[in-house]
Amino acid sequence: MIRNDVLLYEGKAKKLFKTDDPKVLRVEYLDQATALNGGRKDIVEGKASLNNQITSLIFKQIKQNGIQNHFIRKISKHEQLVEMLEIIPLEVVIRNVSAGSFANRLAILEGKILDYPVLEFYYKDDHLDDPLINDDHVKIMNIATEQEITFIKHEAHRINKVLIELFSEVGIRLIDFKIEFGRRADGTIILADEITPDTCRLWDDKTKDHLDKDVYRRKLGDMIPVYQEVLIRLEKVFN
Ligand code: TMP
Repeated sequence: MIRNDVLLYEGKAKKLFKTDDPKVLRVEYLDQATALNGGRKDIVEGKASLNNQITSLIFKQIKQNGIQNHFIRKISKHEQLVEMLEIIPLEVVIRNVSAGSFANRLAILEGKILDYPVLEFYYKDDHLDDPLINDDHVKIMNIATEQEITFIKHEAHRINKVLIELFSEVGIRLIDFKIEFGRRADGTIILADEITPDTCRLWDDKTKDHLDKDVYRRKLGDMIPVYQEVLIRLEKVFN
């Protein structure tokens, strides 16, 4: 089918289009992988379809666990419809185990289980390289109010609990992840964006193998079989 939807936004892993319904956007996932804030870029055939299937399954599943989110439905292998929201320019990261930039910045050994989940805010701004910021920064920059920050933190921790449980059912440990939120016209805030192996660190429970984008970031091997493994495991339990 030929569509003439207006392109709203093109990111590193997906494009967002308007639809005939002003409350609905079409998301098209891309066969593209990037690292180092776009400094490294590769075509990875099959990734769009895998990520679309994985995030669709997860968003559907967590909604059943009481987590409101923007997902409406998957319309093709690499496309889905989502609710139109005003995206809050924050990357909300939760860490259950030390890894990645946290392990490097604080010299806390990768793999150390944290006593409690650590929540971080990063300001979404490519020119500034998505800096780590705190609650005061969020407020002074009018990104979110005190009340909204409280809600976002509470919701992110709730999402963490649901995701830990979901992944543990398929033999995967949730090390850390990044989520984003958006505002509806009425001001309510809900989960947006995606939850995929691009945005989570997922380790096999037994072998500790990386089942996520670190395979690409660290040049450990081919992403596709790894992402396929995550999808197959999730589909076995949740479809
Ligand atoms: P980090 O250890 O590199 O800060 O990443 C923490 C988590 O956030 C990890 O699961 C990957 C995810 N993430 C994104 O989804 N997008 C990003 O731009 C970054 C920096 C991290």
